[in-house]
Amino acid sequence: MDNSGMDDRALMQRCLTLARRALGRTAPNPLVGSVIVQAGTIVGEGFHPAAGQPHAEVFALREAGDRAHGATLYVNLEPCNHYGRTPPCSEAIVAAGVQRVVVGMVDPDPRVSGGGIARLRQAGIEVTVGIEEADCRKLNEAFVHRIVHQRPFGILKYAMTLDGKIATTTGHSAWVTGAAARAEVHQLRATCDAVIVGGNTVRRDNPLLTSRQATTPLRVVMSRSLDLPLDAQLWQTAIAPTLVFTEATAKPDVQKVLRQQGVEVIESTSLTPAAVMAHLYDRGCLSVLWECGGTLAARAIADGAIQKVLAFVAPKIIGGSTAPSPVSDLGFTTMTEALLLEQLQWRSIGSDLLIEGYLPIERLTLKDIRTN
Ligand SMILES: NC(=O)c1ccc[n+]([C@@H]2O[C@H](COP(=O)([O-])OP(=O)(O)OC[C@H]3O[C@@H](n4cnc5c(N)ncnc54)[C@H](OP(=O)(O)O)[C@@H]3O)[C@@H](O)[C@H]2O)c1
Ligand SMILES: [Zn+2]
Repeated sequence: MDNSGMDDRALMQRCLTLARRALGRTAPNPLVGSVIVQAGTIVGEGFHPAAGQPHAEVFALREAGDRAHGATLYVNLEPCNHYGRTPPCSEAIVAAGVQRVVVGMVDPDPRVSGGGIARLRQAGIEVTVGIEEADCRKLNEAFVHRIVHQRPFGILKYAMTLDGKIATTTGHSAWVTGAAARAEVHQLRATCDAVIVGGNTVRRDNPLLTSRQATTPLRVVMSRSLDLPLDAQLWQTAIAPTLVFTEATAKPDVQKVLRQQGVEVIESTSLTPAAVMAHLYDRGCLSVLWECGGTLAARAIADGAIQKVLAFVAPKIIGGSTAPSPVSDLGFTTMTEALLLEQLQWRSIGSDLLIEGYLPIERLTLKDIRTN
């Protein structure tokens, strides 16, 4: 019986498991894992640990040594075929005498897509493409978005009560969800490259926004007024770096105090979510977590800065006709205009529910939205 299909899938899943070890560390590079199999035995494994480090295939080939000759190499992303900081993996695979290569997905960059596969085939290597492709794409969704759109992948995360409030009428919000959901948020932060809040959230919640894990994202505050407390937890830059975006000439005295504490302050003439995302793209971010309140969230959606939504829903009712909700005005007046999330998933975490979905792509830039 031919069970190679099953083996290919299991070994591709092994590549994804290896790749995940570097979650939150590879930006702007993708998450890649590789496995080499000789006569039914794994003889080499590797993953790409960080930008500037060797690629996954190089580690797997090193471990396999001579046993790579005549072997099958698995990798979740098409091997590179260009000289970057390291020589191309395609050449290393050819030189090692690998007989077959199984690729999870082609490189999303249209300029190089298919080039690595073509080079391997040209050298007489059998290449199978598209094994566990959906899982491969999902793992690198931020990387794919970055390459295709030249912007980081935006995730809007919020916690709300069952009646749709993210805080009480007085702005109190600690805590909407239980401990397990909050631990999940720390986990999520560790996988993102930046996390963003607005000035009002700093004033109301004084958040720390760390992951409590080895990798912590860049903490970003968007504040036009710069009317911010001088003793906010976010200014403790020994724990993690903080970046404040503000409008030009806003409160030079506050800017000075922040800079003295190691906070990076960037002034811009027009402070929009799109401008901040453009800046974070230039800094190499793959994924950006929006943990702001409803005002900024609405602006970010309207600007096309959000691709995915993670909504934690607590089985609580707080009431309050003026209590804030996760997304303020989008300018819609009829229910038919609502943004319908796609690829919906949900699961329970403690006594809370996590609902996950993607914003419809054709509505990515909502030019017709009137906010503000
Ligand atoms: N449960 C949750 O998941 C959650 C998460 C976050 C916040 N909250 C709650 O949400 C409330 C705050 O909501 P919020 O909507 O005011 O949140 P926010 O996250 O503070 O966003 C609004 C602030 O962003 C700044 N900003 C910068 N550029 C902007 C632009 N182009 N458009 C709009 N704002 C811009 C402004 O700061 P300046 O005023 O400083 O100029 C503005 O006040 C608080 O009560 C907080 O507890 C809840
Ligand atoms: Zn490579």
